[in-house]
This record gives sequence, C-alpha cells and structure tokens, in this order.
Amino acid sequence: MEQFEIALYPGDGIGPDVLEQAVRVMYRVGERYGITFKTKTLNWGYEYWKEHGTVVPEGFLDQIRGVDAILLGAVGWPAAIPDHVTLAPLVQIRQAFDQYACVRPANLFSGLQSVLAGRSPEEIDFIVIRENSEGEYIDNGGRFKLGTPDEVAVQTAIHTRKGVERILRFGFETARRRRGKLTMATKSNAQKYSYVMWDDILEELQPEYPDVEAERMHCDAAVMNLVRCPDQFDVIVASNLFGDLLTDLGGILGGGLGLAPSSNENPSREFPSMFEPVHGSAPDIAGKGIANPIAAILSLAMMLDHLECSSAARDVRAAVETALLQGARTPDLGGQLSTVAMGDAVVSCIAD
Ligand code: NAD
Ligand code: IPM
Ligand code: MN
Repeated sequence: MEQFEIALYPGDGIGPDVLEQAVRVMYRVGERYGITFKTKTLNWGYEYWKEHGTVVPEGFLDQIRGVDAILLGAVGWPAAIPDHVTLAPLVQIRQAFDQYACVRPANLFSGLQSVLAGRSPEEIDFIVIRENSEGEYIDNGGRFKLGTPDEVAVQTAIHTRKGVERILRFGFETARRRRGKLTMATKSNAQKYSYVMWDDILEELQPEYPDVEAERMHCDAAVMNLVRCPDQFDVIVASNLFGDLLTDLGGILGGGLGLAPSSNENPSREFPSMFEPVHGSAPDIAGKGIANPIAAILSLAMMLDHLECSSAARDVRAAVETALLQGARTPDLGGQLSTVAMGDAVVSCIAD
C-alpha cells in the first residue's frame, strides 16, 4: 500500500473551504486505489497572526521540508494584514524548495462558456509555465528616505542563465508531449538586459528541440493574442511576474478563476512540491460557502500526477468533467451549488 505525507495549508478566506473539498476527494480516490494519505495541517495565516503576531512560526520551512507534497488553499486577508506580509511565506516556500516550475493549465471544459464568445474546448487549451524561483519575485531592494518627498524605492529583478535555461527546457519538454508549440513571453524591446538574455537562451536551445516550433512574443502582444486567437497557443513560458499576469487571464479564458489549478514543482524532487489554485482568498465571497472548489480539486489531481498516482489523477479529472457535464455549477459558473455541494458532486462521480 502506498503512503504519502501531505502538508495541508488551508490559509485564509475561501482557502480552507476549497481545500476541504479537495481533501475529501483525495481520501475518496485514496480509498479506491489503496493509497494512504497522512496529513499535517498548518494553521498559518491570518488566524495564526491574531494569536502570535506573525503569519507563520519561526523555522516554518523545517516543518514541511520532509513531506511528500504540500496542498494549499489560498492566502491573504488584506483587510487586516498587508498582502506582502501574508504572502511572503508562500513565495519563500516556492524559492526555498526550488519549486522553479509553476505549471498552470488553462482549458475550457465541455459545457462551460468562456468569456470569449463562441470559443470551444478545442480552441482554449494551453499551459503557462511560469518561472517560479527568481525574476521579479526575488526579495531584493529597499526604500530610502521613507515617507519624505525624496523617497526612493529600488526593487531588482534577477534573471540567471541557469534559471532561464531550465524553465525553457521544461517548456520545450512539455511542448514535445503536447502539440509541439512553444511561445516564450518576452519584453526585449524595452528590457534590454534581462529579456534579451531570455531571447538569446531560447535561440541557443531551439536546435536541441527540432520537433518543437518555438517563437517569442512580447508579453503585451501575448495578452492581446490570447484574447484574439487563444487557439494559436500550446505552451507558454514566462518569467515569474509575466506568468502571474498571464495565468489570471488563462483562468478566465478557461471558464473562470474558480477552475484554474496550479503546481509549484521541484522537478529534481530534492524538496517537496506544492499544489494550489491560481486564485486567491477571494475576500468578497469568503464565509458565504459559495466558492468553487474545482481549482483546488484539479490542483489535487496535479499533485497525484506528481506523486506518480496517475490513475487516481485521471479519475479526479474525469469526475470533475462528469460533474460539470451533469450541470453542477457554483454561482461563479452561473449556478447555485454551495462549495460543499460541488464537492459532493465531484465525489459522487468518482467510480467505485
Ligand atoms: P482572488 O483570486 O482572490 O479573487 C478574484 C475574483 O475571483 C474575486 O471576485 C473572487 O470572488 C473570484 N474568485 C476567486 N476564486 C474563486 C473561487 N474559487 N470561486 C468563485 N469565485 C472565485 O484575487 P484578489 O481578490 O485579487 O485577491 C484576494 C487575496 O488573495 C489577496 O490577499 C491576494 O493577495 C491573495 N492572493 C493569494 C493567492 C494565493 O494564495 N495563491 C493568489 C492570488 C491572490
Ligand atoms: C499567484 C499569486 C501569488 C503570486 C501571490 C499570492 C504572491 O498571485 O500564485 O498567482 O503573485 O505568485
Ligand atoms: Mn496570481
């Protein structure tokens, strides 16, 4: 019998609600495939902060270093704590555990409508691979003459050859397993050091992947083209910040943010990987019990794939597809189901 230890980080707002449904589905497929999940719940975030004055305990990384994977709901409670404080540990986990590949599929399920009128599931099916360990998210900078008219803020992005090369290779390999097309988001027309290096490395690697058609596209044009002709995209590789922006767009093109999953992978498996929805803690609907848990459930499917439980992952995706085909809809999809009822719908679609 296979056994995995999973750290559960419910977080804030709708995070705990959507994670609860993903965990129900996890136990259900575990039962079906004889997989045992031992969980460890991390009560970090806003609630922890109220008691201790920090959102995570000191040495928090050591509490999760040894687990097989981390499953996260969402973090952030901006009414009480500045986002850069609540969200810092999340970014630290990604960087400390070298989870350099953030994989964010965007595909429209049958029976759902995109915000783009008339688009079919065949036309919206792409993956954004976001560089997740460096770039614009490095904690490097400072503020000088704080609060004065002469105030200066410096925040430096760091792009390394090693970091760019490995994420591009990850993208090429992914494209090879799909429709063989890679688009790299750049901005080398304005950022003459960092993105010109990205361009150079793409060009250097291309001959090693003759079966993949690679192109670069300025990120502003990519945003426009994703709306104009989403069917032209297969795999997109982007820097940390560009990838962040493109994946909220990917979420909405694919039917809504409540459906969009994400992984933060450490491909060498030296450290645990983390799985979480693309969306945040949605304070506007928190506490109402109406958040869509599908993004969290599909993030679970990505975790199962990473743990090499591919039949279980396939079952979870199939159950989501069936539940949606049967008309299960939370309010964000135009329906009336609660978070729990949507979880019920998916659980009931998992075959015995
Ligand atoms: P958000 O993703 O939380 O919400 C954007 C919109 O999408 C809202 O209208 C929300 O109601 C809706 N939405 C999101 N998820 C949904 C779901 N599962 N079901 C139905 N509707 C859903 O983005 P935001 O409002 O910009 O950010 C809120 C907080 O979350 C902030 O603190 C932000 O920093 C944080 N955040 C955290 C993560 C994360 O934990 N990975 C990601 C993004 C934002
Ligand atoms: C995401 C989020 C995060 C990011 C925040 C919470 C730091 O928007 O996972 O997309 O910017 O990476
Ligand atoms: Mn984001």
